[in-house]
Amino acid sequence: MQNTLMKRPRRLRTNALIRQLVRENTLSVGDLIQPVFIEENITSPKEIAALPGIHRIPESAIRQEIDALYAQGIRYVMPFGISHNKDQCGSDTWNPDGLLCRMIRQIKDAQPEMIVIPDICFCEYTTHGHCGVVSEQDVHNDLTVDNLVKQCIAAAQAGADMLAPSAMMDGQIGAIRRGLDEAGFTQVGILAHAIKFASAFYGPFRSAVECTLHGTRETYQADPCNGRQALIEARLDEEEGADILMVKPGTPYLDVLRNLREHTDLPLAAYQVSGEYAMLKHAAQAGLLDEKQAVLETMMGFKRAGAIMIVTYFAHQIAQWLTESA
Ligand code: PBG
Ligand code: ZN
Repeated sequence: MQNTLMKRPRRLRTNALIRQLVRENTLSVGDLIQPVFIEENITSPKEIAALPGIHRIPESAIRQEIDALYAQGIRYVMPFGISHNKDQCGSDTWNPDGLLCRMIRQIKDAQPEMIVIPDICFCEYTTHGHCGVVSEQDVHNDLTVDNLVKQCIAAAQAGADMLAPSAMMDGQIGAIRRGLDEAGFTQVGILAHAIKFASAFYGPFRSAVECTLHGTRETYQADPCNGRQALIEARLDEEEGADILMVKPGTPYLDVLRNLREHTDLPLAAYQVSGEYAMLKHAAQAGLLDEKQAVLETMMGFKRAGAIMIVTYFAHQIAQWLTESA
């Protein structure tokens, strides 16, 4: 006998076309930002043991790498430099002939249409590995902000389309916005790391860039125990002129993303960090989960939570999957 259920959600799952019709979120290559690791003074790519499938490439390979990403449909890249010119404050980042500026110019040179969104920080360029100027055993906020402004103007002069400051200094967005505007770069945007948590999931990244940090970043990156603090940080960044707000890491902080979605009208981004990549990659390599299905599922998690763009080391791989299934 047929029971008289009025509501049968399964009706909308009866076949692939019906499921497609009611799909709430989709993913395309245009949603993805690919981080790229570039090391100076090396001649061939170096594998990153902690991040299977990801390499540190020499400057001489930038063109080939960017051309390949472009051919796959990737239009957004986030370069990270591995510096051989470190000092106490990371001054190489505002040298027009330093690694950061050279990377930006070489990417734009290879593909002028590639949108270049460099990570803006100092930890890859300081001898101590902290994200700024160390003074009395802590990172000095305002001195670091002054240097961030110099770095941003240099990056904009080199051709960066948008900047992604990740140092988590107070007031950094406002100072950078003013600095850019005064230097005439009113159209260079800011993708703010609105909230970046002091996370264990950065572990593989730190080995990937041979970070020299001893100690922690707990005095500047946010405490993982706090959700409401993210709203304070995000509100400040919005008031100071951020164009896009990002949450980092991604999967462990989907609640934060969702919260922000309900409190701002700015576009939101999620950063699926190295530890998230490594977990998925190693589990897939061990045959424990289907890589494609699992990775795409994490992307949908970001979308559902409110992100419209995702920084992920899987970007080129996802681009390939999407082309295959198109
Ligand atoms: C530092 C920085 C970090 C990442 C990018 N830039 C984190 C850190 O070392 O504290 C992490 C990215 C990742 O894990 O993928 N400004
Ligand atoms: Zn940093």
